[in-house]
Amino acid sequence: MHRRLIAPGALAVSLLLAIPASAASYSPGAPGIGDPYYPAYGNGGYDVSHYDLRLKYQPQTDELEGTATLLATTTQDLSRFDLDFLLDVSEVRVNGAKASFATSGQHELEITPANPLPKGTPITVVVRYSGVPSTKSAYGFSTWHRTPDGAVAADEPEAAWWWFPSNDHPLDKATYDVSVAVPDGTQAISNGTLQSTSSRLGWTRYNWRSNKPQATYLATLAVGKFDITTGKTSDGVPIINAYSKDLGDNDGAARASVERTGEIVDWLTGYFGPYPFNAVGGYVPNTTTGYALETQTRVFYSPRQFANGSNTSVVVHELTHQWYGDDVSLKGWKDIWINEGFARYAQWLWSEHEGEGTTQELADYVYASHPADDAFWTVKPGDPGPDDQFDIAVYDRGALAVQALRNEVGDDAFFAILKGWPKDHAYGNASVGDFQEYAEQVSGKSLASLFDAWLFQPSKPGAPAAQDASIARSSAKAGTLPRPKSWKKIEATNDLHAE
Ligand code: TRP
Ligand code: ZN
Repeated sequence: MHRRLIAPGALAVSLLLAIPASAASYSPGAPGIGDPYYPAYGNGGYDVSHYDLRLKYQPQTDELEGTATLLATTTQDLSRFDLDFLLDVSEVRVNGAKASFATSGQHELEITPANPLPKGTPITVVVRYSGVPSTKSAYGFSTWHRTPDGAVAADEPEAAWWWFPSNDHPLDKATYDVSVAVPDGTQAISNGTLQSTSSRLGWTRYNWRSNKPQATYLATLAVGKFDITTGKTSDGVPIINAYSKDLGDNDGAARASVERTGEIVDWLTGYFGPYPFNAVGGYVPNTTTGYALETQTRVFYSPRQFANGSNTSVVVHELTHQWYGDDVSLKGWKDIWINEGFARYAQWLWSEHEGEGTTQELADYVYASHPADDAFWTVKPGDPGPDDQFDIAVYDRGALAVQALRNEVGDDAFFAILKGWPKDHAYGNASVGDFQEYAEQVSGKSLASLFDAWLFQPSKPGAPAAQDASIARSSAKAGTLPRPKSWKKIEATNDLHAE
């Protein structure tokens, strides 16, 4: 039906009241943003520009309460829209007016504003909520990590549902103000700079600001008892690190690694260009997790990463993500190579810098140590599928592909690409295809068959491809290449779900 016959007077009135002229065009926003790996993640119909989270957390009971204020713009005529969230909501307002709400699916909060929202409207969404995050799960799991002195939100690809309502997909990046009140003597750590703290009636409030676009999974919250250290990089970027007071024997090794953040940011700046954010640092809470995560400006490290002594390799990996993953985020989760291939490759560069094996030796070793019938080669780093998104092949075969690219285009073009990419896509999103296009543009070479062989075929690139890309030239010795000294430590970065 396309009947749009409206008297001029009626039109004026409808515009004035922002009532849609044709309600038929107004529809609910999709419950997912359209990522085939995770169909229900994120939402359609709006784009968030800023999250203001004002929270209070009691470590003893795991009670979290507060108000989230989201600034967004509608991207379609909206009758209703979703946020991704698991805690208990008591009130929602859209542009000041009370909205009705309901839950659906695994993690959807369905919001129906009092008045439908035309496309292109700036909206303010206020969500009041409370709950005990550790009692909530979706798809049968929880990524909220309690510690003896508090809790931590840091996980990939899902962490936000347990502590703030969001459009939970990297395609919708936004700035953040995170303000958290905790009992005196306890700290709250989040992304960016600490703007201020204040104390009142036994509670201390920490006000954090992350002022550049940030994906929802890169927003982090840690509550606990921490020792905090500060510094500056050579370029003047403020460094804030935090160590649980409870790290036991891992305390020294954790500090001996994470305190080198400034040095490593300086070193990485030489490869990737200026550091993109307002602050940098890491925190080591007392969790039993095994992994590290590139939470923006404030990396999450598990104590176990330091169980064998200092580990600068993992620091290099997570800080590389600040450029490759955080500044330039993936468009879809299939593009994970954009993150992990390069973060792993930087560990190889660091290995070479430390005299523990060159990038070429590490690439040759990966190629030679997996025979053609190894399942390793069935994983396509360029589109691994959700089940293999963080498979070791995404990292090792992914970094091998980076070395193949380097050998194909030569060092000048390669290092120009490495540094140009974060600038070309600053604060945005990109796909593996976008990277190939950019590498072709900078190098002036057609790279379709190289990308296909190293990233997209479910099989080991054969001798001709390896020959072309100068990988494992000494094929006579394949399988017997010496293991580079850095190998074990680099592999331990992927101690992902060792709980
Ligand atoms: N991106 C993380 C890294 O490479 C690894 C990771 C994958 C991860 N899945 C995760 C971390 C789940 C935490 C939770 O360092
Ligand atoms: Zn990584």
